[in-house]
Amino acid sequence: MKKVWIAPSILSADFAKMGEEVRSLAACGADVVHYDVMDGVFVNNITFGLKMLEDIRPYTSLPIDAHLMIVNPEKYVERFAKAGADYITVHYEACKDNLREVLELIRGTGAKCGAVINPDTPVDCIRDVIPLCDMVLVMSVFPGFGGQKFIPTSLEKLREIRKMIDESGKEILLEIDGGITAENIAEVKAAGADVIVAGSAVFKAADRAAMIAKLKE
Ligand code: DX5
Ligand code: ZN
Repeated sequence: MKKVWIAPSILSADFAKMGEEVRSLAACGADVVHYDVMDGVFVNNITFGLKMLEDIRPYTSLPIDAHLMIVNPEKYVERFAKAGADYITVHYEACKDNLREVLELIRGTGAKCGAVINPDTPVDCIRDVIPLCDMVLVMSVFPGFGGQKFIPTSLEKLREIRKMIDESGKEILLEIDGGITAENIAEVKAAGADVIVAGSAVFKAADRAAMIAKLKE
């Protein structure tokens, strides 16, 4: 099976020792740090923002993938790039009318850009902007909380987007986020995912390195 990147979501880390949590990830075999930003408006939860990103940036040389679950992301993308995000992804549902512009804005900062769709948003909504993306993120849970159950209809969406990406001939990463475990990861790999977010699966494991190795198997 093809190689995938594992992106632990620090939403499930211990916020009281975030620097050390982030530092430990590279040694555990992680490939990317997934950084979930929630504003209490787009989703029903609040996490962390720009300063946390700035503060953890020196703790890792892994790429940081900022998943913005916020309204009006165009107001913040430049500052997230400056704070150290390598990838910045924004939800279609948060910028239905200006997604293309927001992706271009992100690209202009030098960060890599991506579009995200919720479980109830059809792939067709982002079809036109996929060629503009460095990454496309399929949510396999409704965003807001870690530890939810994987929604199986996401597999069909992965397959559809995989096909579009392959047909585009461009280097676009396909990411999946929500409810991934050692039990279902084979299915998401087979459906074409390149970057796999895992929050509770990694941070709640007794041995995080062993869990990441198992997810990569
Ligand atoms: C959900 C977040 C996810 C979450 C994944 O809103 O976007 O990144 O942390 O956590 P698990 O892997 O526990 O579903
Ligand atoms: Zn996320």
